[in-house]
Amino acid sequence: MRPRYAAAMPVISPRTIAAALTEHWSPRVIAALDDSYIKVAKLYGELAWHAHAGEDELFFVLAGRLRIEMEATSVELGEGDAYVVPRGVRHHPVAEHECLVMLVEKQSTLHTGDAVTEHTRSLTDQLRPIDPLCAVGRHL
Ligand code: NI
Repeated sequence: MRPRYAAAMPVISPRTIAAALTEHWSPRVIAALDDSYIKVAKLYGELAWHAHAGEDELFFVLAGRLRIEMEATSVELGEGDAYVVPRGVRHHPVAEHECLVMLVEKQSTLHTGDAVTEHTRSLTDQLRPIDPLCAVGRHL
């Protein structure tokens, strides 16, 4: 499934769109790239320990800070930092304060991987149209 705007891609401002989101841990698809999606999300608190057996997952911090805990290590990302969680690695994103992220992941990637929690969002939910006013570089 592709976003409705895939045929006529507008200039997008991931940070502006992420800032306009009203729910935490509810990623939204803002663009499609080959077999991957570009998503943005507003994070606060913890998600759930999970892994994606066959898919790498890129986190790019647009604002704030994000800690990604893994079983063997933990990384702290500040604004402008990016990290790829390799496929199969169990991870646990933690945002002590609200942060904005951009994600790049395969279209087949499940939101919370092998875990299902109250935070788990379906792909249909992530593909909900976004107010176009926040997708054209409007500054909040
Ligand atoms: Ni993940």
